[in-house]
Amino acid sequence: MAAKLLILLFFSFPFLLQFRFSAGQTPVRAAYWAADSQYPVSSIDSTLFTHLFCAFADLNTQTNRVTVASANQARFSSFTSTVQSKNPNVKTLLSIGGGNSPPAAFAAMASQASSRKSFIDSSISLARSYNFHGLDLDWEYPSSQTEMTSFGSLLTEWRTALNNESTVTGKPKLLLSAALFRNSDYYTVLYPITAIRNSLDWINVMAYDFYGPGWSTVTGPPAALYNPGTQVSGDYGIRSWIQSGIPANKLALGFPFYGYAWTLVNPNNNGLFAPSSGAAITPQGDVSYGQIRAFIAQNGPSEVYNATVVSNYCYKNTTWIGYDDTQSIKAKVIYVKQNALLGYFAWHVGADDNWTLSKTASQTWGS
Ligand SMILES: *[C@@H]1O[C@H](CO)[C@@H](O)[C@H](O)[C@H]1NC(C)=O
Ligand SMILES: *[C@@H]1O[C@H](CO)[C@@H](O)[C@H](O)[C@H]1NC(C)=O
Ligand SMILES: *[C@@H]1O[C@H](CO)[C@@H](O)[C@H](O)[C@H]1NC(C)=O
Ligand SMILES: *[C@@H]1O[C@H](CO)[C@@H](O)[C@H](O)[C@H]1NC(C)=O
Repeated sequence: MAAKLLILLFFSFPFLLQFRFSAGQTPVRAAYWAADSQYPVSSIDSTLFTHLFCAFADLNTQTNRVTVASANQARFSSFTSTVQSKNPNVKTLLSIGGGNSPPAAFAAMASQASSRKSFIDSSISLARSYNFHGLDLDWEYPSSQTEMTSFGSLLTEWRTALNNESTVTGKPKLLLSAALFRNSDYYTVLYPITAIRNSLDWINVMAYDFYGPGWSTVTGPPAALYNPGTQVSGDYGIRSWIQSGIPANKLALGFPFYGYAWTLVNPNNNGLFAPSSGAAITPQGDVSYGQIRAFIAQNGPSEVYNATVVSNYCYKNTTWIGYDDTQSIKAKVIYVKQNALLGYFAWHVGADDNWTLSKTASQTWGS
């Protein structure tokens, strides 16, 4: 009896593992590719990822249709075949919107059933004609109760249309994800939780941009995992999403492959939350991880990893840079696994330094 039970358990084990990620929930180890970065799609090491996001398609405000800029059409339409040549299993999603896309256009589109339909139908035909496996919405951000309600209607109708399209055509369902704010509310305005839970395969939690010289007069950990006494951390955000009713296995934690550089007021006051007079290195202070490693190689700054907040920083004279290095990425991947989240995603592949952070994440996941 006992032996039979053991054998049964042994053979059930793989199925139990699959069951944990049921409802199509295969783990997500993802990254965005940003067309604006001019990073060649053919150089992406797709073996390090399960999913790649092609960013960004645009919303045409006249027609409410999803379009791809003519400068991007060649790279977008060949994106899937290009990244699949190194990893035939990688899934691709066409991402719509982005931080530079005016949120008012999404609010207007989502406010009417007829414009939502144009948006949804055009997104599906575009995804199919370009051979993507799914769609991703990056509306930054619906910011009033009305806009959140419209957002919920959009997601619900999008889900219905995707299911219908798959049934009618017999093709596998397109995936549907969205990049959302770090917390389940946008400055007290709650996201449409039920529509999100029922309509999206998962959400990308943008757990970064917490501090930057453009909006913070002190240095800070731009993507702290913990930040005691505040509501500004990856852990606070993830817990807010779970408490509001989104299951942990629908959450992917965002990793920034970039940091922010400040100018210190006093080079001897060079810790976290030190007074700053503004940005350094670039006009907005945003610097890719690749640029940060080059700065370190050229200038030999002091490098610090603070394991309490889970953030790296380095400083030399009056230049101070906060970012995620390998220690932060490692700690965050362990957090993702310990909390049984669906996975992680990075913004963006072209900002990494010779795949250092992507490999750290992938290897930590596998270990
Ligand atoms: C269902 O999908 C088919 C194929 O994409 C489409 O022609 C049809 O309009 C859809 N029906 C609804 C109700 O969305
Ligand atoms: C890490 O940062 C926190 C928050 O600023 C601070 O209280 C703590 O002393 C730092 N830890 C180390 C080891 O510097
Ligand atoms: C730091 O200051 C020294 C001496 O003024 C200067 O030579 C060096 O270029 C500075 N480095 C940086 C990164 O600002
Ligand atoms: C990039 O990484 C690979 C393997 O990790 C290494 O062999 C190669 O030298 C690195 N290239 C540069 C330019 O650092």
